[in-house]
Amino acid sequence: MLFGGRNTEHEVSCKSAASVVQHLDRSRYEVVPIRITKAGHWLVGPVTEESDGDPGTLVALTPEPAVPGSVAETLARALDAMRDADVVLPILHGPYGEDGTVQSVLELAGVPYMGSGVLASAVSMDKDFTKRVLASRGVPVAPGAVLDGADDELSAQDRERLGLPVFVKPSRGGSSVGVTRVDDWAQLPAAVALARQSDTKVLVEAAVTGREIDMGVLELPDGTLRTSPPLEIKVGEEHGWFDYEAKYEAGITEFVVPEDLDPSLTERLSAVALEVFRELGCSGLLRVDFFLPEVDGEVVPTINEVNTIPGLTSMSQVPRMWSAVGIGYPELLDIFVETARA
Ligand code: DAL
Ligand code: MG
Repeated sequence: MLFGGRNTEHEVSCKSAASVVQHLDRSRYEVVPIRITKAGHWLVGPVTEESDGDPGTLVALTPEPAVPGSVAETLARALDAMRDADVVLPILHGPYGEDGTVQSVLELAGVPYMGSGVLASAVSMDKDFTKRVLASRGVPVAPGAVLDGADDELSAQDRERLGLPVFVKPSRGGSSVGVTRVDDWAQLPAAVALARQSDTKVLVEAAVTGREIDMGVLELPDGTLRTSPPLEIKVGEEHGWFDYEAKYEAGITEFVVPEDLDPSLTERLSAVALEVFRELGCSGLLRVDFFLPEVDGEVVPTINEVNTIPGLTSMSQVPRMWSAVGIGYPELLDIFVETARA
């Protein structure tokens, strides 16, 4: 199990990994954790005790040596450890984890691994590319503009096209790190500067008004795909939007499988989620995040973004949506293992 990672979602990955260790059937699996530090070192460390799901537990199990050696040396040791693995679970979120780079190492090492391959991971990590691929197939996505490189100014035409509010995001980020809601164009430069701290490529997106619904796609061991029930994200009104705090602190957000969705709408969400999975070339699992705006009196499922390695913490949506249809966390992990790419 790889976890940690060289990016701003390092702590979230540690929480996801703690949850995974807690729920894996340890009578069937021996887990060898490999923590990728924020500096990019790969540390192989045994699980010496049961994780209690405490976010810090796994970090403590693989303490960082004072002198870890070069990244290349640690990677070589990790590759050696992975050679004997039946399957690798990359429980990593964000760049250098979920974006195809680690998947390419696993391809080169020839070990089966959970989830999407190199291209699907890379495209799905980059919100701009995800939207381009999906829009080219007629899947509705939020209108947006990209500020790449040193470009900080949004043209007058783009301001008019997008309108306010907008959300300013690192194009290749996650967990809403570096994301700002902008209600006044005067706030834009600070929002762009914040997003640029984690990515040179910044996305300015029109806010989409409507219910927020996530749906999971799961590849079963026989190769068929299954969608989860829709899971609605209801952020406490006084909090505003589904930011980092609302994602990971208890008591701000309510997650519910809604009872008032028209069955034909649920079917439509499922069809779109499957189409998204296939168009992006995904494998194993995916979480597809929708908004449901009403356009001319009709609900139009609109893609916000996708996650090839979605959060797996005890707070996260994926374990909740599958347990709602009787697939508990341990069984979900069994399925990830069994459908790992060879
Ligand atoms: N990027 C976070 C982990 C998520 O999508 O759940
Ligand atoms: Mg995400």
